[in-house]
Amino acid sequence: MLNQMLGNFGSVDTETVNKDIQILCEEYKKYNYIDPSYNELYNVKRGLRNADGTGVLAGLTQICNVHGYVMDEGEKAPVDGRLTYRGIDIHDLINGCAAENRFGYEEAAWLLMFGSLPTKEQLLLFNEIITEYRELPENFVDDMIIKAPSKDIMNKLARAVLALYSYDEDPDTCTIENVMRQSIMLVARMPSIMVSAYQVKRRAYDHKSMYFHQPKKELSIAENILRTMRSDKQFTPEEAHLLDLCMILHAEHGGGNNSTFAARVLTSSGTDTFACISAAIGSLKGPRHGGANRKVREMLGFVKEGVQNWEDDGEVADFLRKLLNKEAGDRSGLIYGMGHAVYTKSDPRACILKENAIRLAQGTEWEAEFRLLEAIERLTPQVLAEKKNDGKVVCANVDLYSGMVYQMLGIPEELHTPIFAVARTAGWCAHRMEEMVTTARIMRPAYKSISPSRPYIPLADR
Ligand code: COA
Repeated sequence: MLNQMLGNFGSVDTETVNKDIQILCEEYKKYNYIDPSYNELYNVKRGLRNADGTGVLAGLTQICNVHGYVMDEGEKAPVDGRLTYRGIDIHDLINGCAAENRFGYEEAAWLLMFGSLPTKEQLLLFNEIITEYRELPENFVDDMIIKAPSKDIMNKLARAVLALYSYDEDPDTCTIENVMRQSIMLVARMPSIMVSAYQVKRRAYDHKSMYFHQPKKELSIAENILRTMRSDKQFTPEEAHLLDLCMILHAEHGGGNNSTFAARVLTSSGTDTFACISAAIGSLKGPRHGGANRKVREMLGFVKEGVQNWEDDGEVADFLRKLLNKEAGDRSGLIYGMGHAVYTKSDPRACILKENAIRLAQGTEWEAEFRLLEAIERLTPQVLAEKKNDGKVVCANVDLYSGMVYQMLGIPEELHTPIFAVARTAGWCAHRMEEMVTTARIMRPAYKSISPSRPYIPLADR
């Protein structure tokens, strides 16, 4: 049967193929188990984490600081989280722009990529370049997006970014001048790709109309996203400022987060900008990383179904235990939107999003949902502690409330993670340039082989 499948795949029915794949998997499992205790034996830094829970130090950066604990007598002591971009507290950046009623994402992108706050003239110039670069190459939408629609916008973003290589005048040169040009171009084009991919997905998969509205020169990135995403092009200033705030919060998060580290790993090999950023998008899609914002929405659906009285902490906690024990939800054993590799007592991004979520939800039909998320935030630490008993302090992360904020902004669920990717492009590019300029050595950690030597056995004797 296996031979039949391998030799003549096309004519075999799905059920037969699935059975054969099961057989292959059993075969795989026979030879592919590593006793977890070996990790300790060989001092493996599993997840690139030290024994005390801190991250393995992989480099130095000036771009961002994610501060979540202090070391006290060799142990992690929880503190409230702090996030700084180029030394500037995220609250100050947000409040500074809000005080002048300005959009701030472009300013944050400049800050991250160049290293200091832009002057008025620099910001003007940056916005002009972004406007110039925003338009996708001729036929790009037709050839790369409409002809090959994707149900998943993250997949389309990654493919489209990779495809931009073919349209670039100088795709491979890794000088700071060339990579800076490509970086600003990507910051400008990612929103256009995202919205086009979304429109095509609507048409191809949801059988709805698609709209290709022109972005407006004088509008900010956040405003243009709302304008081009919506069929009627309408949005309020409040909505655009809230999306702008979300984008500032998602623009950067240190060198060690999975997607940025992926960008730095690829950069260290000397590969091109498009390969590097598409790899970062692939990483961000993962449900333990940026994909968690969609997973929170899915999980909330399971909680709503499984819990009769949302205000009953006991009932909610019981359901969370089921999630952890893989008896409910997506059976991953994860409570999405909770926990973080660095933050302990609080994630400042989650706090800011929560404030905005309640501001919008209060007195509306969303309030009950907000209270349910709040219950998840309140009860998860105790439920996780019962199971893990490792004394770790866990808090809500950026993804717990972001999906709800997007939902209240009328942004469809399939765009929640892509908006994260669009915003994070500035951070990825900043780290790519820093890796090029300050490190310039290929990343090459080690894997200890624990496989014993074996003789080659001729096919007839196996
Ligand atoms: N649900 C279930 N288990 C969790 C958890 C959660 N929300 N948060 C942490 N844990 C588990 C980890 O999987 C790990 O288990 P292990 O020792 O069996 O491997 C253990 O608790 C210790 O984890 P910790 O070191 O504190 O975190 P981490 O750095 O390994 O993982 C996350 C960080 C973010 C990946 C993790 O908290 C998680 O998976 N959260 C849910 C997904 C999510 O919201 N991601 C968005 C991040 S911004």
